[in-house]
Amino acid sequence: MEASDSKHPGTPTSSVSGNGHSSSFSMNGPSSSPSMHGVSSKFTSIRGPLEHSLPFHPLPLHATHAQENPHYGTYSAMQPNSHHHPNPAAIVRENPAHASEHVQVLKKSKKDFQPYHTFLPQHSSHERNMEPSPAAVDIASQSPIQKPIPSVNLPAQSSWHGIINAQQATQSHANSGVPNLNSSRPSAFYDPTQAADLAARRLSVQAWGNKQLPHVDPHLWVIMEKEKQRQCKTIELVASENYTSQAVIEALGSHLTNKYSEGMPGARLYCGNENIDQIENLCIERALKAFHLEPSMWGVNVQPYSCTTANFAVYTALLQPKDRIMGLDSPSGGHLSHGYYTPSRKKVSGASIFFESFPYRVNSAGYIDFTDLERIALTYRPKLLICGASAYPREWDYSKFRDIADRCGAILMCDMAHISGLVAAQQCNSPFQYCDIVTSTTHKSLRGPRGGIIFFRKGQKRKSAGDDADHYDFEAKINFAVSHSIQGGPHNNRTAALAVALLQVDTPEFKAHICQVLKNAKALAAALQKKDCKMVTGGTDNHLMLWDLRPFKLTGMHFEKVCEKSGIILNKNAVYGDSGAMAPGGVRMGTPAMTSRGCLEEDFEIIAEFLYSALQIAMKVRNEQGHSQKAFLKGLQDNEEIEELRARVEKFALSFEMPGLDKGA
Ligand SMILES: Cc1ncc(COP(=O)(O)O)c(C=O)c1O
Repeated sequence: MEASDSKHPGTPTSSVSGNGHSSSFSMNGPSSSPSMHGVSSKFTSIRGPLEHSLPFHPLPLHATHAQENPHYGTYSAMQPNSHHHPNPAAIVRENPAHASEHVQVLKKSKKDFQPYHTFLPQHSSHERNMEPSPAAVDIASQSPIQKPIPSVNLPAQSSWHGIINAQQATQSHANSGVPNLNSSRPSAFYDPTQAADLAARRLSVQAWGNKQLPHVDPHLWVIMEKEKQRQCKTIELVASENYTSQAVIEALGSHLTNKYSEGMPGARLYCGNENIDQIENLCIERALKAFHLEPSMWGVNVQPYSCTTANFAVYTALLQPKDRIMGLDSPSGGHLSHGYYTPSRKKVSGASIFFESFPYRVNSAGYIDFTDLERIALTYRPKLLICGASAYPREWDYSKFRDIADRCGAILMCDMAHISGLVAAQQCNSPFQYCDIVTSTTHKSLRGPRGGIIFFRKGQKRKSAGDDADHYDFEAKINFAVSHSIQGGPHNNRTAALAVALLQVDTPEFKAHICQVLKNAKALAAALQKKDCKMVTGGTDNHLMLWDLRPFKLTGMHFEKVCEKSGIILNKNAVYGDSGAMAPGGVRMGTPAMTSRGCLEEDFEIIAEFLYSALQIAMKVRNEQGHSQKAFLKGLQDNEEIEELRARVEKFALSFEMPGLDKGA
C-alpha cells in the first residue's frame, strides 16, 4: 500500500509491490528524473484509491542507476526489491543536497514529455490478496494439470480496467478526492480534461501490452496447457526431442525478443545494442568453452534460427549454386538439409534444389559404407563432404572422412545436430579434431532452446588437395551468409537462452546426465533384444537406436500409430533395404528426453516392456484387420488393450516430473 507524505499531500512516498518493483505516479507532472532512470520518463498517476488498483509498476531502471550514482546509492528505494518509491518528494526529504538538482530534472522532464512508458505487470500485494475473479477461476479450472496461473486475477470493478476514456478518467480523477498537484501551477497550463484524456490513452495502451496470456488469449492458452499435459503424460522417445530447463525457458520468454540487432556484435544495423552485444559475445565465449575449443583456432556463429538454416548458411558462404555436396542419404539416416532426391527425383530441400547432391549410404549391416563413399567422392569430387546424421546409432570415424575429403579437395563439415550434447560432454568422438566446419541444432541432446549454431576453423590452414591458402577464410563468409544473406535480425531471446544452456552444459552435472543418456540407450536396446527384437547394427553407441520391425511383418507407420495411441511417442524410420519414405520398416528411439525427466536403466527396462506390449497389440490388429493402412487404423479405434496400456504408460510418465514446468520457484 502507498502512503502519502503529509508535507506533500497526494505524493506517494512508498509502496509495497509483490514483484518488488517500486512505483511512482504523478498525474500531471514528471515524477522520475533522467538521472534516476536513464531515460526521460514520466509515470502517469491517477492518485488516491484508484491508484492502488493500477496494474503497472515501472521498470526498476533506477536500480541500475542507483548503483552507479553515489547520490542515490544509499537510497533503499533504488534497489529492485525495495518496498519504497524512488519518488521526488522522498528524495528531497531524505537528501536535501540533491533537491535542486532534482527540481531541475523535473523541469526538464516536463519538456521532454514522453507519451508511452515501460511498465511491468502488477503483482502488488493488494492485488494478490484479492479473491480471484470468477473469470480467472474459470480459466484456471480449464488447466488440465489444475495449476492456476499466479497473479492473473482480474482486478475488481472500478479499477483500471474500467478506465477507457477521457470522461471516465476525469471522473476517476475527480473521485479520488486528492488535491490536484497542478493546483500550484498557473491554471493556463493545466486543463484537467486534457490531462485525463492523456491519462486514459496511456492507460489503455499500457493495458494492451500488460495483460497476461490467459486473459488475452484463453483459447490459445488452454491449447498450450493441453500440450503441457500431453508432454507430462507421455513417454517421449523421439531421439531429437528433449526438455529444456526452466532457466532456458525464462530467457526465451523475455523482453530480449523486443530488440532488433541485425549484424554481428559491434557492427549492427541499429543502435541500442550494447547489451545485446554483451549477450551474444557471452554466448560465443560459452559455446567455445562448452565444446573445449581454442578461440584462436575456432570461431562460432550463434545466430542461426535452426540447424537447417545453419547448414544452408554454410553452403551459401562457401559454395556456388550447382556446386557438389555429398552427405549421407536420407533413407540411410542422413538429414534432408544435406541434400536429397526422392526416388521420383523430387528435390526436397534447398540443399538439393540449389546444389548437386551426391549421397553416400550405409551398408546392409547399417554402418557407413566407406568403400562406396570413397568411390563416389573420388569420382565426383564434391566441394563439400558432410558427415553427421539424424538416425545413425554408431560412432563416426572422422579421420576416414578427413582422409577422403583431403584426397578429393573437399571442405569437411560435420552436422552434429543429434550428438552435440555427447560431444560437449566428451562422451563420443569429437568432430572438431578433423572437420573444418561443425554445425548443430541447440535443442536436441544439448537441451538448449530451439536453434542452430555454426563453428568454423580460424587461423593457420591445414593443407589439402588443390588449395594453397595459408589461412582459413570461413569467418567473414559464414558471418555474412548468416547475417545478411540467409537471415535478418537474430532472435536475441534465443541467443540469451542458448548462453544459459551452454553454461549448464559446461558442468559436471551435464556430463553425468549425458553418461546416463548413453547407459539408458544401451539398457533399452538390450532389453528389447532380449525379447528377440532386432536393432539395426545390433545396438547403439550413442543416444538412439533403430528398431527393425520387418521380422514382425510390421511397418514403422503401423507401430508408430499404436505407440502414439498408447502414449509412447517415437517415429517411423527407414532401415537399410526397405522402400524408404514410402513404407519405412523401422522406428527410431532415443533416450535424451526421458533421461532429462530422471529415468534410469531400470525405468528404460519398463519402457521396453511397454514397447513390447505395443508390439503385441500391433501384430494382433494387423492379423485381425490386414495390412492396409485404413483397416489397421480402424482396428486401433476404441481398442481396449490400447486403453489399458495407455493408462499404465500415463501413470509411469506422470511419476517423472517434466523439467521446465513453472513451479513458481
Ligand atoms: C542431422 C540433422 N541436421 C539438421 C536437422 C535440422 O534441425 P532444425 O530442425 O533445427 O532445422 C536435424 C533435425 O532433426 C538433424 O537431425
